[in-house]
Amino acid sequence: MRTRTVDNMGKYTGQILEEIYTPEEIEARVIELAKQISDEYAGKVPILIGVLNGSVFFLSDLAKHLDIDCEMDFIKVSSYHSGTQSSGTVRLLKDISCIVTDRDVIIVEDIIDTGLTARFLKHRILENEPSSLAFASLLLKPECLKLEFKAEYVGFEVADRFLVGYGLDLDQKFRNLPSIWAFPADMNV
Ligand code: IMP
Ligand code: MG
Repeated sequence: MRTRTVDNMGKYTGQILEEIYTPEEIEARVIELAKQISDEYAGKVPILIGVLNGSVFFLSDLAKHLDIDCEMDFIKVSSYHSGTQSSGTVRLLKDISCIVTDRDVIIVEDIIDTGLTARFLKHRILENEPSSLAFASLLLKPECLKLEFKAEYVGFEVADRFLVGYGLDLDQKFRNLPSIWAFPADMNV
């Protein structure tokens, strides 16, 4: 397994990250999800709503592999103020600009951890009465869910470790890494 050492990042300096999904593994799984979505939405034009900033790589790769037409829009929320702990409250930072009423909507997330963000987004979109709503999340931490939540499309179920890369960040760093890397399970923040 490939590792890398965190440098120049205060209290995280010296932590050893482990590569848990390579770019090839991510791409293969994204292609599978795109195929499944293309089949299930055949004849429809879903709006993919990417949750900024983390979902940008997943959303663009997923969209490129769809065989159907789609539209794209973005929403931005904040639930993590800093570090790796969820603050528990979700704030809307940037709303969608499209009209979702009577449309098929797929919310595209990088990761579902506690599920609080997903629940907030679900209610937000349902207020505007789409004809359907589904969730596509590249990653899901089943052990961390604090509420009953079912995402229709999940790339990988992962253990409770803090992950970075392929859009996922720690204090805005590491998003641009092509692989997904895990901090040690016992990392204290
Ligand atoms: P939730 O509301 O706890 O489900 O958290 C969802 C959001 O928290 C995600 O969209 C991410 O932005 C962030 N998040 C949760 N777990 C991780 C992680 O392991 N690495 C990076 N960001 C994470
Ligand atoms: Mg996110």
